[in-house]
Amino acid sequence: MATPPNQPSALEPEALSRLAGGLAHELKNPLSTLSLHLALLREEWLDEAGAKARRSVRTLDTLQTEVGRLNEILEDFLRFARTDEIDLEKASLNDLVEEVVRFIQPEAQSQGVQIETFLDLEQPFLLLDRGRMKQVILNLLINARQALSIRKSGRITVITRPDSAAGYGVMLEIVDDGPGMTADTLAQCFDIYYSSKKGGSGLGLALVRRVVESHGGQVEIQSSPGHGTRVMIRLPRPTSD
Ligand SMILES: Nc1ncnc2c1ncn2[C@@H]1O[C@H](COP(=O)(O)OP(=O)(O)OP(=O)(O)O)[C@@H](O)[C@H]1O
Ligand SMILES: [Mg+2]
Repeated sequence: MATPPNQPSALEPEALSRLAGGLAHELKNPLSTLSLHLALLREEWLDEAGAKARRSVRTLDTLQTEVGRLNEILEDFLRFARTDEIDLEKASLNDLVEEVVRFIQPEAQSQGVQIETFLDLEQPFLLLDRGRMKQVILNLLINARQALSIRKSGRITVITRPDSAAGYGVMLEIVDDGPGMTADTLAQCFDIYYSSKKGGSGLGLALVRRVVESHGGQVEIQSSPGHGTRVMIRLPRPTSD
């Protein structure tokens, strides 16, 4: 049957994400040229004396900051757009948790935040994209740390355990005793670009969900004001060894 006239051809989400990823990638080169030329221009104005030169240097600094911000937005977006390409290998989820906790611990401690781990030592190897799964754990720990940073103390607990839900093998939980989320925030927290933070890009949890789902897993969050936040990730056990 012929396609009806004026019918827009729908792009599959995957094709759309590839297109947007390609565009973001193309924007990076002109942005870096822009940044380089701004720096050169700044050098020239720095050699000049007078109020006009000082004003120009300040304007160029503002432009450079904005170029940097655009670059960050593109980097975040590219990280998000590329989440479909996962590279699965046999890996230990516990090892990834320990690596990420070691990385974030010093900064958390300096904020008065304790991170405790309770890891299931009997845990089977899973099929994971190590880099992306580390990014998932890191995003969740950063969210928990940021939630606790308001009152400069608190506890984050990371747990791995067997999961009895049908079709899943392992549960990873990241729990914080921070302020928790309102029902509105909880309803929107996975939306791309939703953020309640100043300067937050709102890509963290969207990326978490995408990566977990591309591993055949599931994410659920329990949170309410005054009762902290519990993020639960279910991951499948490999079907064969
Ligand atoms: N552990 C938590 N405690 C309280 N609120 C949280 C927690 N984790 C996420 N949120 C809420 O969910 C929102 C979305 O989180 P998400 O990680 O997607 O974005 P972000 O942290 O705001 O920005 P980004 O991660 O991109 O820097 C947060 O802005 C915050 O309101
Ligand atoms: Mg975040």
